[in-house]
Amino acid sequence: MRLNPFAGAYLIDPASMWRRILDDPDGVHYAEDLGLWLISRHAHVRRALADAATFANALTLAPVYEVSPEAMSVFMQIDVPPTTAAADPPVHPRTRRALRATFANTPDRVEAEYGAIIRRRVDQLVSRLATRQGDQVDLIPEFATELPLLVVLDILGVPDADIGRIRRWADGQIALIWGQPDPAEQARLAQSLLEFWQYCEELVRQRVDSGHQGEDFISRALAYRDDDDAVLTVPEVASLAFNLLVAGHETTAGLLAHALDQALSSPQRWSAIAADPGVVPAFVAETLRFAPAIDGWLRVTSREVTLGEVTIPAGARCLLLIGAANRDPAVFAHPDQFDPHRADGANHVSFGHGPHFCIGAGLARLEAGIALTRLAAAIPGLRLTPEQHRSYKPNVAFRAHHTLLATIDIMAPADVPAARGGATTEVHAA
Ligand code: HEM
Repeated sequence: MRLNPFAGAYLIDPASMWRRILDDPDGVHYAEDLGLWLISRHAHVRRALADAATFANALTLAPVYEVSPEAMSVFMQIDVPPTTAAADPPVHPRTRRALRATFANTPDRVEAEYGAIIRRRVDQLVSRLATRQGDQVDLIPEFATELPLLVVLDILGVPDADIGRIRRWADGQIALIWGQPDPAEQARLAQSLLEFWQYCEELVRQRVDSGHQGEDFISRALAYRDDDDAVLTVPEVASLAFNLLVAGHETTAGLLAHALDQALSSPQRWSAIAADPGVVPAFVAETLRFAPAIDGWLRVTSREVTLGEVTIPAGARCLLLIGAANRDPAVFAHPDQFDPHRADGANHVSFGHGPHFCIGAGLARLEAGIALTRLAAAIPGLRLTPEQHRSYKPNVAFRAHHTLLATIDIMAPADVPAARGGATTEVHAA
């Protein structure tokens, strides 16, 4: 079975490929062109995510292609110590403890520590959109990617003025690791990643020099470290910031884009959200299941392992197809239907599972909930531009819309017609 995640059908309709792999008796395949083992079943993906002794993280943030010598010479200068998605034991349990202590990750803590930031930033963007009555806007740059970036900058205590370059660096990192850049582009993106890392080192250095009294994440991590390298080193604090600045916005941006795409696909859905914020958590959970912002995630085997009837050798890079696992008919009835009323939507694996489970899941859920609720309340007549084609950035991990065009109408539709076509069965693209 061939999978080309960078062009053609997979970019337009990944679910058809997921279905083919799921329908196969094994559900596990070696994709020779990619040099990756594809793992699709819900049970196998969960097992791989949770079994850190067999499925290691050492190469999770390493490019999925052979890196050019020019790019490699730059990579060698990026001496980021692994702390999160690239860390394995014995480092990861220690850095994970630091992250849990310093980054809010339970619903109560997230609300208490980040709720006000999210509401302020949502209101800022929503009121800007609401002044543009009658305009066609692109919801990706104007809302979906902007909001999570502003929120994560506030949490880390990074000035708004740096937003442009952080966005460029983070987008570049995602293309560099999980995309397919040509050698010249690899060298350019590797150089930009080096600048990003040096920027994070400098951010932390400034906090160290100023005595880190603030409430921002970096100050908290430095306070938690308490000058003890056995707890956390200063470069590890910079590494956490480096990871959070990317993980904290590219992912939630994808969730917002997919949620808006689904919510606006029928006037009834949008009206339901405007009328009753209580429906939003289930709507967000179903979006995460149906159209995950990260639909593939990497691990490398540290020893031979057998999944079902298939044996994967040691040292094999594996792409865990989160998108496929979320459509596994062994777990979800009518998996290709978007159904915000399904009872088991939250069984998705879109935030991972086990020791690396997404630390930002609570933040992402709260942010998406507040964003959808306030946008629908302020612009109840918001509607997608009809007949627009969806296209996604070529990537094995992140499924990010290029654009999502909509027209601003702050008036509530007088009479909401019946939902056209009922539940959407796929995020169509062309
Ligand atoms: C919809 C939004 C998000 C999605 C879909 C998502 C998805 C994921 C996934 C699939 C993983 C890997 C889990 C595993 O290996 O088991 C992960 C890990 C992680 N996520 Fe998220 N994430 C989201 C939002 C966020 C946010 C808002 C932050 C922080 C501000 C964040 C920070 C992290 C970090 C630091 C890790 C690594 C944790 C570790 O290795 O211990 N994520 N996320």
